[in-house]
Amino acid sequence: MNTSTTPISPVAAQNPADRRTFVRATLDLGDVLLRPWGREVAELDVMLDGLVAAAADPLIALWNPFPAADRNEAMALLEVREGGWDRGSVASFAVLGAADGALLGNVTVRWVDRADGLAMMGYWVLPAARGRSVATRATRAVTSWAFRTADARRIEIAHAVGNEASCRVADRCGYLPEGTLRDSHRFGDGAYHDEHLHARLSSDPEPTDPAGGPTA
Ligand SMILES: CC(C)(COP(=O)(O)OP(=O)(O)OC[C@H]1O[C@@H](n2cnc3c(N)ncnc32)[C@H](O)[C@@H]1OP(=O)(O)O)[C@@H](O)C(=O)NCCC(=O)NCCS
Repeated sequence: MNTSTTPISPVAAQNPADRRTFVRATLDLGDVLLRPWGREVAELDVMLDGLVAAAADPLIALWNPFPAADRNEAMALLEVREGGWDRGSVASFAVLGAADGALLGNVTVRWVDRADGLAMMGYWVLPAARGRSVATRATRAVTSWAFRTADARRIEIAHAVGNEASCRVADRCGYLPEGTLRDSHRFGDGAYHDEHLHARLSSDPEPTDPAGGPTA
């Protein structure tokens, strides 16, 4: 009988749920910064107004609705996002212009099954910043960060079949199409829509096509 013992590395010995913790970080893309949402966000009133404007945008209200009818609701939302970071369970980033700190959008990744390394990605971009690869660049950055720092194994994006812009973002971020989910999610119009499921595995290659130039 072999009685020798192989030392267990500290990383392997860790509980996956501990290892799979989103830890606050700022992601610097040069002209764009991704900063964790929370009560301490810079220019709080401007950010609250940005969230209220985003929630009122017809496309966001349709495809990615969230409750921020006024500054109080937006503040409550920031507190929820702060709690997500505190628990390491939801990583929600404000996407900001590096030059002026203007709010451009949001990228959020959350565990669906933390022990299994399965996460879900979501994003929105304010109308004035659309069409400049903000969503693509920010989503690529958060994807790499989640694989690298939080040991994500598989990240999914699900978007309504009619949301072609989101489909392009998922494609350009290397999330392969995996099929159609029927009547799978109730969107802002109150109706259930079919969704396309896309996913990236940690073992998939980084997308190689250029994500687009500077946003400014
Ligand atoms: C989807 C969304 C985040 C895209 O943001 P963005 O910063 O404009 O995205 P990008 O510039 O990185 O890429 C957009 C891609 O969609 C394409 N696109 C934009 N509008 C489109 C439309 N109406 N139909 C088809 N494609 C469209 C662009 O041409 C681009 O593709 P390309 O690079 O091949 O040219 C933004 O439109 C949005 O906030 N929509 C509302 C909320 C939402 O849908 N969130 C996702 C829920 S799953």
